[in-house]
Amino acid sequence: MLLLLPNLLFGENVVSKPTVMVSTEDLYNRVVEQSHITYNLAADVFHEFDVKFFKRSWFTHRGPRLCHTASIPTPGSLAEINETNTEDLLKAIINISLAWEEPLKHLVSALAALPGGFDEMVKIASNVKDRNRVLLEGLETILSRNQTEVEENAYPAWSGLDDLQSSDEDTHLFAMYMLCRCLKRDTHKIDTYLKVLRCRVAHKNAKMSALKCG
Ligand SMILES: *[C@@H]1O[C@H](CO)[C@@H](O)[C@H](O)[C@H]1NC(C)=O
Ligand SMILES: *[C@@H]1O[C@H](CO)[C@@H](O)[C@H](O)[C@H]1NC(C)=O
Ligand SMILES: *[C@@H]1O[C@H](CO)[C@@H](O)[C@H](O)[C@H]1NC(C)=O
Repeated sequence: MLLLLPNLLFGENVVSKPTVMVSTEDLYNRVVEQSHITYNLAADVFHEFDVKFFKRSWFTHRGPRLCHTASIPTPGSLAEINETNTEDLLKAIINISLAWEEPLKHLVSALAALPGGFDEMVKIASNVKDRNRVLLEGLETILSRNQTEVEENAYPAWSGLDDLQSSDEDTHLFAMYMLCRCLKRDTHKIDTYLKVLRCRVAHKNAKMSALKCG
C-alpha cells in the first residue's frame, strides 16, 4: 500500500490554486516547525510524567527496555547523519512516525484514565498525536515530489499494549513511562534529522558553502 494522505496543510492538493507550488524549502520550513513543536510537547509530557510517577525501582528491578522503534536503522552521530542520503533519512523519519500512530492513541487514553486528573498532560499528548499525523502528510508531500513511494505498512509493530493495560499498577505505569521516554527520544531524532535536511535544501538553493548541515 502506498502512503497516500490528504495534504490539506501543505497545499499540494488545493484545487482552487493549482498553479501555486510551495517550494521544497518552504515545505521543509513547515515540517521543521511541526517537528520542533512536537518535540517540545513530547518533552513536556515526559517531564510531567517523570516528576509525578518515576520510581527508581523500575530500573533496578525491570531493567531498561528498548523502544519499539529501535529496529529502524537510523544514523546516530552528526557525521553519520551527514553521510545518509536525503531519501533514506526521510524514509527512516516516516518509518518512525508511522510506528508511533498506534501507541500514541493508547498513550493518550492511558493518560486520560489516570486517577487524579492530568488534563493538561492529556491535552499535550493528544496534540503530539495530531501533529505526528500532520508531519506525515508533509513528509509524504516532500517525498512525492521525487516520485518516491513509501510502504505504509512497513514499520515496526508496537507490542506494549498488554503491559499498558495491565491491572498491575507498577507494570502499567512503567509501560507509560517508557512510552513517554521513547516518544521524547524519537521526536527529538526526527527534529534533528529534519533540521539537517532543511539545511541541505537551503544550502543548495543559496550556494552557501560556509553553511554546515551537521
Ligand atoms: C521500517 O523499519 C523496519 C525495521 O524495523 C523495516 O523492516 C521496514 O522495512 C522499514 N520500512 C520502510 C518503509 O523503510
Ligand atoms: C559531510 O560530508 C561532506 C561530504 O559528503 C564533507 O565534505 C563534510 O565535511 C561532512 N561534514 C561533517 C560535519 O561531517
Ligand atoms: C530528490 O531528487 C533530487 C535530485 O536527484 C535530490 O537532490 C533530492 O535529495 C531528492 N529528494 C528527496 C526527498 O529524495
